[in-house]
Amino acid sequence: MAFTKKDIEEKLDMNNIPKHIGVIMDGNGRWAEARHLPRKAGHKAGAETLEKISRYCGKLGVKALTAYAFSTENWNRPKEEVDNLMELLYNYLLQVEEKFKNENIRLCIIGDRTPFSDKMKEAMAHAEDYTKDRDGIVLNMALNYGGRAEIANAARLVAEDVKNGKINPEDIDENYLGKYMYTADVPEVDLIIRPSGEERLSNFLLWQAAYAEFWYSEINWPDFSEKDMERAIIDYQKRNRRFGKV
Ligand code: IPE
Ligand code: IPE
Ligand code: MG
Repeated sequence: MAFTKKDIEEKLDMNNIPKHIGVIMDGNGRWAEARHLPRKAGHKAGAETLEKISRYCGKLGVKALTAYAFSTENWNRPKEEVDNLMELLYNYLLQVEEKFKNENIRLCIIGDRTPFSDKMKEAMAHAEDYTKDRDGIVLNMALNYGGRAEIANAARLVAEDVKNGKINPEDIDENYLGKYMYTADVPEVDLIIRPSGEERLSNFLLWQAAYAEFWYSEINWPDFSEKDMERAIIDYQKRNRRFGKV
């Protein structure tokens, strides 16, 4: 579907586009089950949706899109599903040169990479390196990501700094800790979207969600379209963000 600049500008206030959007890509399994397809078909369709939505957000001028693709808790799924997800992910990363050749998207992977295989780690590093000079939207793919793990990791790094005499405990503030979050280089999260009818964070962007707006929808992620993103942004633009002020 073509979304021309004019179409977009008629509906959205281009001066109030969220700078950073988080999406919890949920509902892949239910999408597949409703079609009598294996769950992995849902994950594949979900990966295609992410491409489409990243491109659209880039067009709108969104600076960063953080997509929850695999949580620290998702390892607790049946082995077959975890293996399928790893395979899908690996193949996706291997195709980075075809998929991202003509896209002004910088791909970053956030989360703890320690448990991934060496070949997966190489594919991650290659994908990031291949897109590192793109100056359009930053697409953060959250893999083995958990908000609590991210905060614990930041605390560990701050503790190292104390040990090395870089900072005194009494000088540690939100700003200092915040610099160790995975999203330190991109703007604050303005909007968090969760499709599939669930209304919870499931350990996504706990630190960053402090003043984010939330938007939920019944639609399963593989069916999520540019229109749905447009609806979410239209609603976002009606919100009165007070940040604790009057
Ligand atoms: C989200 O879809 C993808 C991952 C968590 C990897 P789900 O697999 O959670 O889909 P549902 O919630 O079972 O429908
Ligand atoms: C959140 O979805 C994680 C991702 C979308 C990657 P889940 O399906 O894992 O969340 P819960 O279990 O419903 O909370
Ligand atoms: Mg789910």
